[in-house]
Amino acid sequence: MTFTLVHLSDPHFGAVADLAQVDAVEALIPDLEPRVIVISGDLTQRSRHGEFQAARMYVRELERTAPVYVIPGNHDVQWWLRPFIPFASAAKYRKYRQYFGPSLAPTIDIPEAVVAGALTSHGVAWGSLTLRPRDIAVKGHLSAGELKRVTALFAKARPEQARVLVLHHNVLRGALSQRMGLARWKQAQRRLLATGADLILCGHDHQENIDLLGGKIIVSCAGTLSTRARGDRPSTFHRISVDTDSVQVELFKWDEGRKVFKRSDVFAFARPARAPAPRVSGGRKVPT
Ligand SMILES: [Fe+2]
Repeated sequence: MTFTLVHLSDPHFGAVADLAQVDAVEALIPDLEPRVIVISGDLTQRSRHGEFQAARMYVRELERTAPVYVIPGNHDVQWWLRPFIPFASAAKYRKYRQYFGPSLAPTIDIPEAVVAGALTSHGVAWGSLTLRPRDIAVKGHLSAGELKRVTALFAKARPEQARVLVLHHNVLRGALSQRMGLARWKQAQRRLLATGADLILCGHDHQENIDLLGGKIIVSCAGTLSTRARGDRPSTFHRISVDTDSVQVELFKWDEGRKVFKRSDVFAFARPARAPAPRVSGGRKVPT
């Protein structure tokens, strides 16, 4: 059973969205036959109503092909409404929820996969602070509680289901930016490795990156569909196919001259075998 998803990120509807790119993705997606489409955050540029409306309409169009999974990025959080006030975060996310529903990290559970999210976009929050002033409201953080919730979801998944974790901030260092998306990134990586995820989908860096985390979890960091691609490199998005024993990540790269996305590099990974779940008989585990 092959599970195929399309992963895009950071369209930034608003002043910097590249409408030719978002239109080209929309036109191409039905031919890619995804079972799920993931947009890993930064749907808007400044969390404005018009930007959220454009993003919502775009998601609606993509949903004609497959369910669309979205999660907020740092640009989708109205952090200036509740800086540094714990337990009063509702205002920050009110607009996002108005357009994309109450859950900030929903779950899609289908026979082929469990797609779960971990919220990393908290705006100006103690956990996201670093010593660098420019990081304020840009960096994210992963709480222990959020990863505990995701780990429990993946533990309940059936062995044949791919375990896909979506978050906004990049969990590997950007090649050009040389930046991690998360504050306390070493701790975050350790926690991510313990979640049981097969695949992590993220964005934020505006440069594509496909690699292994800790030699174990395949990470797909998608580029942007905006004019803010890092180093003026062509924008990218990914199609990912998960088989029983392998995972393939195909890059689709923007051709500015022809205004189309063209299939380019392909990355292939072996998928580690998963131990079968213990058989249960009469409420007792049967030794295997
Ligand atoms: Fe972004």
